[in-house]
Amino acid sequence: MPQDTLTITDNRTGQSYTLPVENGTIRAMDLRKIKTAPEDFGLMTYDPAFMNTASCRSAITYIDGDRGILRYRGYPIDVLAQHCTYLEVAYLLLFGELPNPSQLKNWVDDITHHTMLHETTKKFMEGFRYNAHPMAILVSTVAALSTVYPDAKNIHDPENRLLQIKRLIGKMPSIAAMSYRHIVGFPYIYPDNDLTYTENFMNMLWKMVEPKYVANPVIARALDILFILHADHEQNCSTNAMRAVGSSHSDPYLATAAAAAALSGPLHGGANEEVLHMLDEIGSKDHVPAYIKKIKEGKGRLMGFGHRVYKNYDPRAKIIKWAADQVFEVTGRNTKLEIALELERIALEDDYFVSRKLYPNVDFYSGIMYQAMGFKPEMFTVLFAIPRTIGWLAQWQEMLTDPEQKIARPRQVWIGHETREFVAIEKRAALAAK
Ligand code: ACO
Repeated sequence: MPQDTLTITDNRTGQSYTLPVENGTIRAMDLRKIKTAPEDFGLMTYDPAFMNTASCRSAITYIDGDRGILRYRGYPIDVLAQHCTYLEVAYLLLFGELPNPSQLKNWVDDITHHTMLHETTKKFMEGFRYNAHPMAILVSTVAALSTVYPDAKNIHDPENRLLQIKRLIGKMPSIAAMSYRHIVGFPYIYPDNDLTYTENFMNMLWKMVEPKYVANPVIARALDILFILHADHEQNCSTNAMRAVGSSHSDPYLATAAAAAALSGPLHGGANEEVLHMLDEIGSKDHVPAYIKKIKEGKGRLMGFGHRVYKNYDPRAKIIKWAADQVFEVTGRNTKLEIALELERIALEDDYFVSRKLYPNVDFYSGIMYQAMGFKPEMFTVLFAIPRTIGWLAQWQEMLTDPEQKIARPRQVWIGHETREFVAIEKRAALAAK
């Protein structure tokens, strides 16, 4: 019997089946041959929320949740955060290799020259209500780009795909900044091509009447590091949405809008905004033990804690803590940080959190840091969407070029009625009264 196989005995029939095991997985389709009778559909697996199902083979991002490891294309996240810029990492994620100096220069030039938005897109954004959530503005505007670039539907043309990818990477900060200027009622600021990716974003957010915006280099670099940390995270909820929507061959703007919509939820990218609300609710360091007690009684969740994959300290949270120190040198420490540190200290010693392997995730400190940098909490998820766009697009491209992928279409376990007899409308009330 070959070693890399799995033998299953179906106790319903007494029959045995041998299935190949590859990369620690069996193919779900191999289970179909396990039947009780020729007309039987065959065995399926039931896996709500994909707890133990690999939906693709990928070479982009590697996570070992038990050991707290995150690598992009084989490079540890802390090494990339220390030595690279966000756009360098974006190149790595997309093309699989780190760029040489001339490749990086061309890549940065290309992205920089795709930061402008069509004036009709600007007008479209002006139509949103004054108090619209910036994440909802972003999702809708990204989808609306599909109307500006109808050529984007040529998804099987690699050159065309690359053009749309550059457009999306270039335009995300512009859309994000305009969504912010919209809610605060400031005029939109056009991109400045002399600036780096994050400096330009800061320029579009915060420039007022000064002729040239000058970004604080510590804040700009910290933001760049945060962008690196958020660039990809293998098959998370929003990436799965990107792949699922993209698998129907919709264009990349519409698929990216769907991914961003998935990111907006409080259990995913919306968590850092929730962390801030939670810290506000706690109010002071002294109230932390009472708050933890409430969580342990099942009254809510400790936001920014826990992760589906990491059952160890999230490696991104470690780097964020380090970057936060740099930012607080510039901005000064605030009470929220004190509360967060106390929450972490107590939670990491408490059996409730220890036994469930609940550690701080990327969102626990990012929100506090963003707020110290001057961002409003409503902007936090938007700040996540900007860098994650390259992750979504790299995964989308990998999906499209994978010969094994098809339109994503899960199966279901039917738990409803068998065929029922139709009841005419005039007889239904009488039937219900019986
Ligand atoms: N606070 C308190 N208890 C928690 C928390 C938390 N943050 N997270 C999980 N638990 C508990 C659950 O109540 C459950 O306990 P039980 O076994 O006694 O019922 C156990 O830990 C397992 O929790 P699940 O919900 O089954 O874990 P799952 O993997 O489905 O959820 C998730 C992961 C959604 C991230 C969860 O930990 C959570 O809600 N965290 C808070 C929200 C958050 O920070 N989200 C950001 C995730 S990172 C990202 O998207 C970038």
